Amino acid sequence: MQFTIVTFGCQMNERDSRALANILVNQGYNEVSDPSKADILIINTCTVRQHAEDRAISNLGRFLKDKKHQIIGLMGCVAERRKEELIKRFDKLDFVVGPSKFEEIPRIIDDIIKNRSDGVVLYGESEPHPAKWGITEAIKGISSWVTIMTGCDNYCSYCIVPYVRGRMRSLKEDIIYKELENLQEAGYKEATLLGQNVNAYGRDLNGNRNFTDLLIKIDKEKYLKRIRFVSSHPAFVDDYFIDNVTALQTICPHYHLPLQSGDNSVLFNMNRKYTIESFFEKVEKLRKKRPNCSITSDLIVGLPTEDDKSFSRTLEFIKRIRFDSMHTFAYSKREATAAYKFGDTIPFNIKKQRLKEVNKLQQQISLEINNSLIGKIVEVLIEGPSPKNKNEYQGRTETNKIVIVKSEKNITGEIVDVMIERAGSYTLFGKRDFF
Ligand code: SAM
Ligand code: SF4
Ligand code: F3S
Repeated sequence: MQFTIVTFGCQMNERDSRALANILVNQGYNEVSDPSKADILIINTCTVRQHAEDRAISNLGRFLKDKKHQIIGLMGCVAERRKEELIKRFDKLDFVVGPSKFEEIPRIIDDIIKNRSDGVVLYGESEPHPAKWGITEAIKGISSWVTIMTGCDNYCSYCIVPYVRGRMRSLKEDIIYKELENLQEAGYKEATLLGQNVNAYGRDLNGNRNFTDLLIKIDKEKYLKRIRFVSSHPAFVDDYFIDNVTALQTICPHYHLPLQSGDNSVLFNMNRKYTIESFFEKVEKLRKKRPNCSITSDLIVGLPTEDDKSFSRTLEFIKRIRFDSMHTFAYSKREATAAYKFGDTIPFNIKKQRLKEVNKLQQQISLEINNSLIGKIVEVLIEGPSPKNKNEYQGRTETNKIVIVKSEKNITGEIVDVMIERAGSYTLFGKRDFF
């Protein structure tokens, strides 16, 4: 039997989909990329913003409309949030399984095939078993995800993640080392350590310096050439982290620190537990310790308490801090979160206008920072052929910048030195033969 998993949402969902695919392949199923050829179709969903949830449901509706003899199931964060409601609404839907329970899906499919069950709904928290997941590659043979913690205990006032992914749960160190060892043996070059609040790693196990200690140990073993990690919470970045991690050879000098707002009163309402002053100080220290590092961020515009003045302060702070790049989002009201009761008071056209302004500013800053790299030599891990032009390959710098480089020979998987010749806001262009 053939299966397809259609994935929406963040890296956690990407990884859960890869893990489930590996388990299904081990049980004799074949993975196909075309949903119309699949006997089993699974949609892995995201609910972080209403738009993401609407997309998942509209895709589900489309697949169910064409359903003949297929098994169709929904997994991920929408499954957790909507639970039984979806099974009642879509009578052709075979299962709805929350993100902590995806390891049960092969058994559920087996039961459905054997006519033992129908309309299965499974949600709630569970212990993950990554040892069963195999290599959950991001790019086959080159880069992989390694989950080090699941869930989140932060309860930022706007965010639904803690309600759908559950309490923070750190994986035991030995499980993480074993996985990195497997990647090393398989010849992988890069791993990204994953967690919604990755630098809080270990706080539920013991002590409070565990994330930094984990990175120190990983670096000491030199498992892979490059170790990345996402997403860090700025409040958990301390001097111990800054002093140590910036000096580690295999830990990439790319720090993704979601700012969310550049106004202290909005940050307080978001329950972010830092101020723009403390954020700025941490970024300055990181840049001082690791001068060529990159700092990227996330930002939300249009929280109910963000007035014109707070938004102007955010623009001023972005000019001052100069991130390498930023993901920006319009606030979306999520049921069950603390901010839900304040409604969604900023009109859509104002949110859109603010997004436009902040994106324009960030594009300019990104371009200026990228232009400053022209003439410099950077190390690029080549991920594969460029989707646009023949004889061009695409890769990333240690600082997570995309680089396009010309090459007659296939250099996929190699780490090559590239001289930057040209830059855009999102991409760098360079050559290899610069001697
Ligand atoms: N745990 C990560 C963190 O704290 O940065 C990622 C959280 S979420 C998956 C990714 C981004 O979505 C957040 O950083 C935030 O900018 C944005 N986001 C979360 N909830 C949102 C909401 N209700 N409306 C708009 N954007 C939201
Ligand atoms: Fe959501 Fe905040 Fe947790 Fe990130 S840290 S997942 S924004 S609650
Ligand atoms: Fe979305 Fe769930 Fe990730 S809500 S962002 S898929 S944790």
